Amino acid sequence: KIKAAVFASGTGSNFQAIMEKRDLHCEVVLLVCDKQGAGVIRKAEKYDVPVLEFNPKSYASKAEYEAMLVEKLMEAGVTWIFLAGYMRIAGPVLLQAFENNIINIHPSLLPDFPGKDAIGQAYAAGVGKTGVTVHYIDEGIDTGPIIAQEGVAVLPDDTEEALKKRIQDVEHQLYPEVINRLVRE
Ligand code: GAR
Repeated sequence: KIKAAVFASGTGSNFQAIMEKRDLHCEVVLLVCDKQGAGVIRKAEKYDVPVLEFNPKSYASKAEYEAMLVEKLMEAGVTWIFLAGYMRIAGPVLLQAFENNIINIHPSLLPDFPGKDAIGQAYAAGVGKTGVTVHYIDEGIDTGPIIAQEGVAVLPDDTEEALKKRIQDVEHQLYPEVINRLVRE
């Protein structure tokens, strides 16, 4: 089976959705987490996925911690990387090592609302429709080539919380499906 790593910084609901997918066409052999105590770490333990926790601040540069990550990923035989709420920008060291094999999920219809708090941004802007995007990663913030998108309507009496819940439900469906389309043996 193809080996993959998930990178996450937060709660890990998308990590969980990937782990719960029936007939996932790859094996998640590593969770990479840059946030001490993040909820996703406990989830990885529950699924017996080894965790690589690191503190970016204890490295001199992004190039330095990414070189460490690339080495560990190679050691583990990883060929695909799925970013799932990883709140850092990938640099050239990581991108060159895993060219065309790093994807991300983002809670908006890119190119609208890139960056942090995309759901809050869309809610505040008062748009009638937002959604979810899965895309390849490049050195920009949420700018790589788009693989799949799904719209989510903003309802007249929506709260930000209700909208977030519907967007995340779409994420949890879409991301594992897209992964299975891309990752073939
Ligand atoms: C997800 O909604 C994901 O799309 C978003 O962070 C959340 C992580 O939730 N990612 C970004 O905003 C990337 N720019 P999770 O930890 O429960 O999967």
